[in-house]
Amino acid sequence: MSVEQLRIKYKDVPHAKDTNDAGVNRFERRVENMFSKNTDRIIGRRVLDLACNTGRLSYPLLMLGAASVTGVEARRELIDRGEEIFAATPYAGQMKFEQGDLFDFLANAHPGQFDVIVCAGFLYHTVRHADFFREVKRLGPETVIIDTNVAKNYIWFGRQFFGRPPALFMYNEDPSKTSDTTDPDGVVYWPSTSYLEAMLDGSGYDWERVNFKKNSNGNWAAMGDYKNGTRAAYVGRRR
Ligand SMILES: C[S@@+](CC[C@H](N)C(=O)[O-])C[C@H]1O[C@@H](n2cnc3c(N)ncnc32)[C@H](O)[C@@H]1O
Repeated sequence: MSVEQLRIKYKDVPHAKDTNDAGVNRFERRVENMFSKNTDRIIGRRVLDLACNTGRLSYPLLMLGAASVTGVEARRELIDRGEEIFAATPYAGQMKFEQGDLFDFLANAHPGQFDVIVCAGFLYHTVRHADFFREVKRLGPETVIIDTNVAKNYIWFGRQFFGRPPALFMYNEDPSKTSDTTDPDGVVYWPSTSYLEAMLDGSGYDWERVNFKKNSNGNWAAMGDYKNGTRAAYVGRRR
């Protein structure tokens, strides 16, 4: 099947009513480039969607043919909203929300439990990057899809001086914001692309950086971070 056939109109996803036109465009392009181009790795698979919020990316994964999605989310109110949305859809029986810290969930999961791990919009809301990649290596899904803000200001410090770019950059977030870290001190690190690539390599995954410019609809509304390189996504295939 071609990408054209598989293109999802995000406005057909019930979660679309929680955002505006630019937001719909952002979801549509993320879904197209991260998921629709990899449906061969999604159809019939058991997907773990980490930091799933209301299941706003879980739903299109089910539309693309995932057998099931387990969504882990720390905030109860987001799961309540997600359950309300899913209840009225054909996918209610294939979606399971789990409330809690995703690292606690990962620690209790067993190797082979999931075919695909999706970690979108989370790796810049934590300080536990190494733990995440250790769990990916231990659980060994055939596919891992990562999408995160990335730090690209290493040039200020001089790449040559360090030999390789620094890996993690500290920022402060507001834990009262439902999109942000749940850690009370608000301390997070943004990974650099070189860090993500080294960790995927070390976890046993061949990776490809998602090219958001290719096959796009040409609409960059709400996509500036992907365009200017402060956000990146990767598809990792277990070696
Ligand atoms: C920016 S949203 C990403 C939502 C969705 N995955 C996406 O990419 O559109 C980040 C989500 O991570 C959740 N979150 C933050 N820390 C978490 C943790 N330790 N365990 C589980 N969820 C967490 C937040 O509540 C929020 O819903």
